[in-house]
Amino acid sequence: MERLAGTRVLLGVSGGIAAYKAALVARLLVGAGARVDTVLTRGAERFIGVTTFEGITGRPARVEVWEDVPTDTHVALGRSADVALVYPATAHTLAKLAAGFADDLLTTSLLAAGCPVIVAPAMHTEMWEHPATRHNVEVLRQRGVHVLGPDTGPLMGGDEGPGRVIAPEVAVDAVAEVVAGGSVRDVAPAGQASTAEARPRDLAGVRMLVTAGGTREPIDPVRFLGNRSSGKMGFALAEVAAERGAEVTLIAAPSALPTPPGVTRVDVTTALEMHDEVFARLAGVEVIVKAAAVADFRPDTAATSKLKKDAGAPTIELVPNPDILAELGARREGADRPVLVGFAAETDDVEAAGRTKLVRKGADLLVVNDVSAADAGFEVDTNRVLLLDRDGGRVDVPLRSKHEVAGVVLDAVVARLHG
Ligand code: CTP
Repeated sequence: MERLAGTRVLLGVSGGIAAYKAALVARLLVGAGARVDTVLTRGAERFIGVTTFEGITGRPARVEVWEDVPTDTHVALGRSADVALVYPATAHTLAKLAAGFADDLLTTSLLAAGCPVIVAPAMHTEMWEHPATRHNVEVLRQRGVHVLGPDTGPLMGGDEGPGRVIAPEVAVDAVAEVVAGGSVRDVAPAGQASTAEARPRDLAGVRMLVTAGGTREPIDPVRFLGNRSSGKMGFALAEVAAERGAEVTLIAAPSALPTPPGVTRVDVTTALEMHDEVFARLAGVEVIVKAAAVADFRPDTAATSKLKKDAGAPTIELVPNPDILAELGARREGADRPVLVGFAAETDDVEAAGRTKLVRKGADLLVVNDVSAADAGFEVDTNRVLLLDRDGGRVDVPLRSKHEVAGVVLDAVVARLHG
């Protein structure tokens, strides 16, 4: 089922250059089954038109409070929403929301909205770091508003720093999290610590390698052997570890996911490339998390030209890939650093298979996924895992978002780092 089926989203768009990305947010929300009512500020309208949102959502998009007066649009939109997302939220809009202004359709709608509100700030770094904005964000947080981001990265006019709006996919994930559980991960914004819900900084300065995604093993220039891994679990681990202060390098097999804030990403395609990147980056690394689904075998040779159908069904000779995790385990020779975290995808007798794999690969922790369940494992945002410890410990993690599962895994890593 679509994850936002039947959800009524009020999408507020305020006037920053990032307003163009709000069109993608609208499309992703609609694609997830949501009913989306868009309200633009007058500033937003200078960056992007109502027609775009009307075309995408199939519903009226509005700017003025003076239209549809008999239908009480200025309160009706807020009242009928299950969740409101302001994307992007400018410094000015955040200030108005903090102070309770109601001088346009977006602010009146949000004052009338009893639903959870998510804001995705976007502005130049100086504006984000100004004490006035810090104060307004804190006021909103204490009022229960979820503040998503901003990211650090390129800004308008060639600037770079904290202030870039969070990726559309991340915003839509947050909407889904709010709708599913009533609480959203309050993404630690760049340059501003969340005092309302301070994240532990228990991985401060710890160098960590995380691998994620599914490797692709080429058959010819257009075909490959692959697997169903989306990279979501590994990306979530990298993101949460960075939020907790780790210096994270994410070695990513092909994945459509955006790079988490503060994480260094190295893209690879094949198991051999992943192997080489991992072993080239071991210096000073204290924790390695192998969330990637690595192909166990690859075609012996990849054809340099596309295999043609007329040549008949090809015979593909497979050869084994190196087992990166097992090699890391063997190389450590009983030492307790780096801490090694493996993953296992199992369908039968999950715990026993996991225990055997933990020992065979020489890992400290093994996160075992039961990939036979539809709501856990591949491609979905949730996971249910069994966390095994080489000292015999086990933790059952019930169905949670992959970010929450990442938190539990990292708690176990921290415990091992402290001996
Ligand atoms: N892994 C690895 N290199 C490989 C294969 C797997 O580093 N060539 C790592 C994965 O990143 C994961 C763990 O090993 O952390 C378990 O992978 P899994 O596919 O479950 O184990 P396999 O060794 O392939 O065992 P099997 O397929 O027989 O269950």
